[in-house]
Amino acid sequence: MKTKVGLLILAVAVVFFVVGRTTAQSHALNQKTLDNLSTAMHGEAFAYAKYLLYAEHARQAGNKDIAALFEKAAKVERFQHFAEEAQLAGLVGSDADNLRDAVKGESYEVDTMYLGFAREAAAVGDKAAADRFEEVRQDEMGHRDAFKAALKVVESKAGGN
Ligand SMILES: [Fe+2]
Ligand SMILES: [Fe+2]
Repeated sequence: MKTKVGLLILAVAVVFFVVGRTTAQSHALNQKTLDNLSTAMHGEAFAYAKYLLYAEHARQAGNKDIAALFEKAAKVERFQHFAEEAQLAGLVGSDADNLRDAVKGESYEVDTMYLGFAREAAAVGDKAAADRFEEVRQDEMGHRDAFKAALKVVESKAGGN
């Protein structure tokens, strides 16, 4: 009996050691490596979205094999490459962390990126692009506000008020 308990404690200690090491490693990455992970994740996410559009096109043209090839590669980009890099980078945090990050990203798109893009496109006469940027910007406002509202709820629950 004593041996069994001892073995159980040892097993638990080993699990904690391994998990602790993995966690510690993911937080000790060099800034350059983190930057490279971010660049890589943007590339993988873009490839995923792009390959799905390519697959859609191939399928509509009746090229099933090409569509399947793009879909298969897209899955690897998203569910292996992106997911593994995100894990390494510690991308996903608590719901509150994730909501704060989302508000920050959407706010940047609303206040800076799409605002600037729409103005620049309008200034050079690319009206369709200017209109599209502005329309997308309005959607991002909706995302920002929905994330903000959800964050408020999460924070009020955590704060107990
Ligand atoms: Fe990839
Ligand atoms: Fe958005």
